[in-house]
Amino acid sequence: MKGIIFTEFLDLVDSTFGIEVTEAILERAQVASGGAYTQVGDYGHGEMVQLVVALAEEVKVPIEQLLMLYGKALFARLVAIHKVDMSQYNSAFGFLLRVEDDIHRQVRKLYDKATPPTFLFDEIGEQRMVLRYMSHRGFGAVAHGLILGCAAYYGEDLVIERTALNESGTEVRFVLERQ
Ligand code: HEM
Repeated sequence: MKGIIFTEFLDLVDSTFGIEVTEAILERAQVASGGAYTQVGDYGHGEMVQLVVALAEEVKVPIEQLLMLYGKALFARLVAIHKVDMSQYNSAFGFLLRVEDDIHRQVRKLYDKATPPTFLFDEIGEQRMVLRYMSHRGFGAVAHGLILGCAAYYGEDLVIERTALNESGTEVRFVLERQ
């Protein structure tokens, strides 16, 4: 997985919990890469799992909650770093419908090792949208956080229901309702 996902995670841990916590989780997790991530490098996604598990132990916050918080903060960062022109989408639903074609497809082209998730839309309405997240990584909670971050970006209030469709969480259903 791209290094940017790791560098942003560690920056967020720094700013939310303090640098001592970042150092403590790197010490605890003992990741194979050594933990000196660069934005353009590639690292096993298992390292992200190790870091989040270490953080959950260190700060005594459930893993699910940490992944969602991370996803939420990550959204605005990805948009800023990649200079995404957000004015072309006028709502969170509008953005989500294009994320696959406009963003993740570019990510695949730019970095040959990147494997961002796939989204399928089962229902597309003005107030309600049903989509499925598919990824071998099973990071539905991060996707949940990213969708929250996207809604926050547009100043929208979205109620999100998330259901794993299999045990490993590689397929997850999201029901989104605009308030
Ligand atoms: C609501 C919007 C978005 C959602 C729900 C979403 C979802 C995700 C998730 C869950 C991952 C983790 C990997 C996985 O689960 O397979 C991921 C990876 C990634 N996403 Fe997105 N994303 C969104 C927007 C963006 C934006 C705005 C950018 C950049 C402009 C972006 C770029 C990336 C990159 C670079 C990766 C790493 C892929 C890799 O290294 O294999 N995403 N995305």
